[in-house]
Amino acid sequence: MTFWSVRRAAAGDAVQIDDLLRRKAARLEALDRRLLLPRRAAGRPGLVAVDGAGTVAGHLRPHLVELTEDDEMRSFAAARVVSWRELAAASPEALAALVDAARVPGAADAALWPAVDGEAPAVFARFAMKPVFVLALRTAGPLPSGPAATVRLARPGDLDAVCALHLEEVAFHEPHTPYVRVVPALVPALRSRLEQLWSGADDASTVHVLEVDGVVAGMCESHVQTVSDEGGQLLPGRYSYLNSVAVGARLRGQGFGRTLVSAVIDDVAARGVDGYTLWFALDNPLARQVWPRLGFRPLWISYERRDLPV
Ligand SMILES: CC(C)(COP(=O)(O)OP(=O)(O)OC[C@H]1O[C@@H](n2cnc3c(N)ncnc32)[C@H](O)[C@@H]1OP(=O)(O)O)[C@@H](O)C(=O)NCCC(=O)NCCS
Repeated sequence: MTFWSVRRAAAGDAVQIDDLLRRKAARLEALDRRLLLPRRAAGRPGLVAVDGAGTVAGHLRPHLVELTEDDEMRSFAAARVVSWRELAAASPEALAALVDAARVPGAADAALWPAVDGEAPAVFARFAMKPVFVLALRTAGPLPSGPAATVRLARPGDLDAVCALHLEEVAFHEPHTPYVRVVPALVPALRSRLEQLWSGADDASTVHVLEVDGVVAGMCESHVQTVSDEGGQLLPGRYSYLNSVAVGARLRGQGFGRTLVSAVIDDVAARGVDGYTLWFALDNPLARQVWPRLGFRPLWISYERRDLPV
């Protein structure tokens, strides 16, 4: 049995690390043409698993993310998370040695991995990590609408209705998953984004509302972002990221979500985008049914291990 020692990567390891990353990229890109994975370690030195002969059989760059109480991301992420970056391993034993070395007491673990990799759930399960969030991508192109309703840009008079819908959307998750929680910072953060938007300081974002019988009954926040670097989560291009999509409980399941997203897609398409992205929680029983119906296909999965309850 090979014994793996783990140490900080040194300059002389670069060729072997890049070879591991190249092999991983080639395997996964062949499975999903929407991926373009990094072929070299770009960040600060990570950890390497090395056998007795000095062969590098694994690389992982642990990155500790710490969120303060007043960060709205606490709705979705633990306070301290070790994010596993530039992970590639030639054997399960080398991976296990790296994971052992990367763990930080009291911190959760998270790894973003291509959704197409059917072997990943079993591999991550060995480290008590489960698939929690999906980053889904919809390619450009119109979406047939649902029932007729008004979809328009939100205006200052909609502030309370939009905040209430956002709160309702996040709260909807709570009975289904411990990984999403309403935190006090959630609504103030949205308020401040809306104020920025209405002041004209943010021309990359839009917030649309759905009106049914003259009442605001849905919202969708979107943000256009340009990806220029290769080796990120998305191929280089322009994407509209849908941050918060909600239809009030009374009207769900009647096609209004489709109407809302279809109109947002029409509006955003005028800005020239290559696709639309959004995150959803796998334990959200509506999201996992709705998004595939609207053309969003899983691209990345965030595997996580947290000490629960959060
Ligand atoms: C997700 C949400 C915005 C969708 O809006 P909606 O009005 O309920 O969705 P629609 O009725 O337009 O349905 C859209 C598609 O999903 C399908 N769908 C909706 N609810 C479903 C359910 N309970 N089971 C199976 N499929 C469902 C519909 O059949 C429809 O597909 P089709 O048009 O091809 O037939 C809304 O349900 C919601 O606000 N949910 C709570 C908050 C939330 O989870 N937001 C998303 C976070 S990522």
